[in-house]
Amino acid sequence: MVLDIRSARQLRRMRQRDLAAAAGISVNELMKLERGLTVPPKKLLDLISDCLNMDVNQLAVGQNELLKNPLTGEGYITARPESPTRIPRRKTPDSTKKSVFDLFCGVGGFSFGFEMHEAFQVVAGIDILGDRLQTFSRNHDTANAYGEDIRAICTDILESENPRPFVIVGGAPCQGFSSLRPFRNIERNDLRNNLAEEFCRIVHDLQPEWIVFENVIGLLTYNKGQTLQAILGAFEEVGYRTSFKVLNAAYYGLPQCRERLIVVGSRKGKPFKWTQPSHWCEHRSMAGQQKFVLKPLGKLFAQNLQPAVTVNQAIHDLPPVEAGERSTVYRDDIESTPYEIFIRNKAQQLTMHEATAHSPRMLEIIRQAGANIYALPEGTVTSGFSSCYSRLNGDEPSVTLTVNFTHPGSNRCIHPYQHRALTLREGARLQGFFDTFEFLGTRSQIVKQIGNAVPPLLGRVIAQAILESD
Ligand SMILES: C[S@@+](CC[C@H](N)C(=O)[O-])C[C@H]1O[C@@H](n2cnc3c(N)ncnc32)[C@H](O)[C@@H]1O
Repeated sequence: MVLDIRSARQLRRMRQRDLAAAAGISVNELMKLERGLTVPPKKLLDLISDCLNMDVNQLAVGQNELLKNPLTGEGYITARPESPTRIPRRKTPDSTKKSVFDLFCGVGGFSFGFEMHEAFQVVAGIDILGDRLQTFSRNHDTANAYGEDIRAICTDILESENPRPFVIVGGAPCQGFSSLRPFRNIERNDLRNNLAEEFCRIVHDLQPEWIVFENVIGLLTYNKGQTLQAILGAFEEVGYRTSFKVLNAAYYGLPQCRERLIVVGSRKGKPFKWTQPSHWCEHRSMAGQQKFVLKPLGKLFAQNLQPAVTVNQAIHDLPPVEAGERSTVYRDDIESTPYEIFIRNKAQQLTMHEATAHSPRMLEIIRQAGANIYALPEGTVTSGFSSCYSRLNGDEPSVTLTVNFTHPGSNRCIHPYQHRALTLREGARLQGFFDTFEFLGTRSQIVKQIGNAVPPLLGRVIAQAILESD
């Protein structure tokens, strides 16, 4: 059997942190090796194979296999040019509302949150992927949707076809950040620009009152924090006073612990008033104990906080379905929770509630699945992180949803008590998308659209705070 570092480690039931310590590297470095994102120097591979008590040549074969198909996680494509498309808006923007531009819009989850406020409307979105753009456009009537590599977008066109933006939001994918240059060296339409620079270029040209740059938590420590500092520096250079925090969506009423790094900047130098959490749950931040993690006070002091919304409270009004089955009607035999009433948004017909048709072997694994991979009898699976092939806890908010949540081998995504992975509808609910939000594309595209989105609820929280800070 060909084993890479991760599968060999798991076979030996060794924890990542123990192997990292034994090999003298950080857990972060080990994670990169296990995902096939970096190549271990010969000396390190020797050491790791010793710790795993296996032949180094065998391990090298396993790692080489992994390198051909690395597990990239959230750092997916940065640029895969399709032919440019434009989907014009279907409704004229209301001139009394504050306009929002959504760069790297995906399906526009984050900016949809802005539109949950009457004061805002989204007028433009840009994304390189056609299916994302179709979904974005379908749900953002007043927005022009630009399907293009952002590096080829000319701001003169954005300016002439849209109202001036009050806010520009966006989350540039974080690959390629390491080569950030000072803003003054950025050339217009230079395809070598990295994507954070693109955000800056458009901000510089369109001069919105506010900017909101959201990203993965990894940006905090990426390149020893220098990349984040360079991005903040670039925002200052184009005239924005910034502040940043790590927000966990579960603290604001989402039934999912999903952390995002949010940078907000004001052109007029206004201080941004961060919204304090409204909900409480036990959660250890990926960013550790750092002061910029916005947390509720300890439980004892949390009298004014509500308990976080749980998985069961978000999906228990959906009818049970077995693997391979689907249902198009809501349950009428139970009382919906406040979150379910909110998220259903008066939808009449249930959509996207179809479970993956798992193979008999996978069903066997699922039936035995528990809180983590170690709940499975030894030898049931040969590889996987500890949270793979695991059930969600119905009495807590879910863990972070991935772009693979319909596959049990992905991060904890098996239904709390039904024998199958989550349906698309359940995933959309955990991300905070209304049942009336329409997703377009194939099933596998839609899973990625949902898994990659920023929860609308976070957009709503930031939108409200901008109104209060302006
Ligand atoms: C994290 S997703 C955005 C999620 C979105 N903010 C939401 O809330 O739903 C990042 C998006 O950047 C897009 N993207 C990546 N490289 C791009 C490029 N060069 N030009 C335009 N869009 C790009 C991807 O297609 C992806 O949809």
